[in-house]
Amino acid sequence: MKLLSFSLQNFRNLERVAAVPHPRFTLVCGENGQGKTNLLEGIYYLLALRPLRPAKASELVRLGQGEANLTGEIDQDGVARSVAVRLSCGLRALSLGGNPVAEVDRYLEAGAVVAFTPDELAIVRAAPERRRRYLDRAVFTRWPAYLVELREYQRLLRSRNRILQERGPVDLRESFEIPLARAGARLWMRRRAWLEEVSPHFTRAFDRIGRLSEEVALSYPAAGEGTEADLASRLLSKLHDRLSLDEARGFTSVGPHADDLRLAIGGLSARVYASQGQGRAIVLSLKVAEIENLREKLGAAPLLLLDDVSSELDPARNRELLGYLRELSAQVLLTTTDPGPLLPRLQEDAASWRVDAGVVTV
Ligand SMILES: Nc1ncnc2c1ncn2[C@@H]1O[C@H](COP(=O)(O)OP(=O)(O)OP(=O)(O)O)[C@@H](O)[C@H]1O
Ligand SMILES: [Mg+2]
Repeated sequence: MKLLSFSLQNFRNLERVAAVPHPRFTLVCGENGQGKTNLLEGIYYLLALRPLRPAKASELVRLGQGEANLTGEIDQDGVARSVAVRLSCGLRALSLGGNPVAEVDRYLEAGAVVAFTPDELAIVRAAPERRRRYLDRAVFTRWPAYLVELREYQRLLRSRNRILQERGPVDLRESFEIPLARAGARLWMRRRAWLEEVSPHFTRAFDRIGRLSEEVALSYPAAGEGTEADLASRLLSKLHDRLSLDEARGFTSVGPHADDLRLAIGGLSARVYASQGQGRAIVLSLKVAEIENLREKLGAAPLLLLDDVSSELDPARNRELLGYLRELSAQVLLTTTDPGPLLPRLQEDAASWRVDAGVVTV
């Protein structure tokens, strides 16, 4: 997947950017607070329909402006396609090949993108919520329909929680539980399938990147074994088992929204025992595993957006990462405040851009 060209108008602090990224590496340089992350976020939003940092749609539009417009030309398997997003008054309009499109998953299938942010380097030791957010993002990158399924589950979950809080009628609560269990089972199936695909890539990547003797493992025990129908009936009975607890707390305590993605190193919980360096090697390996899996399943590497990652990694890990990226024939955009150590490694395969106060000079 290649991004042939793109434009961002009134996105965050960027008034207007229209540019052609290098087919291999584009280094986006600039001082702090100038708009480097915003530039990557605009491209990420255009392709993944999600911001890089948790934000409301209205916060993505440049202050004082009514709407943001994002457009791009994508090449996937030699087929060029145009994508466009308009954000205005909290509403989002999508178009594919110049035609409006309502289905988010159909839009997302146009191109795969993987972002890597310094904030993710800390997920190993973060709270489960952060790892869930990571997992959800990875799963919907693999299967865009997951985004629709996730929203459906969240909608049903909110309804059940509201009934619990308001101590609503029993039959009303029960009428939400079967669909909720089904929607939850769907998420469990997707997450389990993702884990199965990515796990072998993860151990391989860690052997290379970690260069540590410990074994790592990725697991998602919550889903358990069985068919989707088995998982749905298991979730339904868990909802019943926890009913009195859930009623007392006013929220649903079991289901995919409460699970954790487990990472182990040397047989122990990485969350508890991994050192900071091991934690970073684990996340880097997870990212490489995700990219390798997408490359295998989609037939081409996704577009990669690396936000200031090199400043967070030690020189040896940086060499590993850049070595990997050079071998992988992916298109990569990277931001940095200090291009010094990166530029010579990217050699002639790179373009270098500058961002100053929301103005991009290519
Ligand atoms: N909706 C918006 N409208 C206008 N400006 C915005 C909007 N959202 C964010 N900004 C501004 O964008 C700037 C930050 O941009 P960004 O996060 O891209 O910086 P950066 O170049 O990545 O910096 P750093 O190197 O510190 O990560 C901030 O000054 C912020 O106020
Ligand atoms: Mg930044």
